[in-house]
Amino acid sequence: MKTTIYYFTGTGNSLATAKRIAGRLGECELIAIASLDGGQEKIKPDAKRIGIVCPVYDLGIPMMVHEFAERLDISEAEYCFGIVTMGGAGASALHILNDLIKENCRRGLDSGFTVKMPANFPPLFKPPQGETKDKILRKAEQKIDRIAEKIKDGKKDYPSFTPFSSLFLILTYSKFLKEVRGYDKDFIVKDNCNSCGTCSEVCPAENIVITDGKPEWEHKCEMCFACLHFCPVEAIQWGSRTEGRGRYKHPDLKIHDMKAQRGEE
Ligand SMILES: Cc1cc2nc3c(=O)[nH]c(=O)nc-3n(C[C@H](O)[C@H](O)[C@H](O)COP(=O)(O)O)c2cc1C
Repeated sequence: MKTTIYYFTGTGNSLATAKRIAGRLGECELIAIASLDGGQEKIKPDAKRIGIVCPVYDLGIPMMVHEFAERLDISEAEYCFGIVTMGGAGASALHILNDLIKENCRRGLDSGFTVKMPANFPPLFKPPQGETKDKILRKAEQKIDRIAEKIKDGKKDYPSFTPFSSLFLILTYSKFLKEVRGYDKDFIVKDNCNSCGTCSEVCPAENIVITDGKPEWEHKCEMCFACLHFCPVEAIQWGSRTEGRGRYKHPDLKIHDMKAQRGEE
């Protein structure tokens, strides 16, 4: 059965997940959500099996994925799944994804899966390094393989959602949606910036312009932190909380993948 997987990634976890699932399923097309036009028309994939893979952001989904889900029409698909990659907690993100799609086309996801991967949010946590990181990635690969088997079998599998997480979600995710675009006002560029422009090249939202050799953010931020994690000299900080915190990228992720995500070769 032909499968189309839509993905969004900031630091490579979700792309690695999407690629591994695709490899296990065969006959699979990967489409970057960031490469789609920003219009209002419905998106109607012709594949019989549809997947969406993205990170959890503030217990929900990235804004770009949120807007995409509002346009996605899966009414004619035979099987649809969502996979969210996360640092620790995020089943609620699947419910948000499901509700948005259902509202749009009256058909929701058949299954939803969470995959714990290295957290990439240095304002709060030092991203895992060394053996700790490798262990998380190894376990994630095993889980992804089990998920692929379930998808192949057309299993219906959905994580439960408690009223407590629902309340928490309303507080955190609605604030995120309201404010995320402007979070980039807290990015700082240190004097060691070497004007390489990598930050601008990897940004999935094309939110960074280089002016007089330095990055400037244009307030359409997704808060994926790709700019901060990719900076080769760690010149980009977010407020005072990311200095010396370490950086993270999935080991397979290259600048080329981030450009491809925007539809560039
Ligand atoms: C803005 C932001 C918010 C996040 N919120 C959560 C969260 O609520 N729960 C969680 O488990 N992980 C959270 N994370 C961690 C990411 O979901 C996780 O590292 C994910 O695998 C990153 O995927 P990517 O590499 O494809 O971008 C957050 C990361 C960012 C950047």
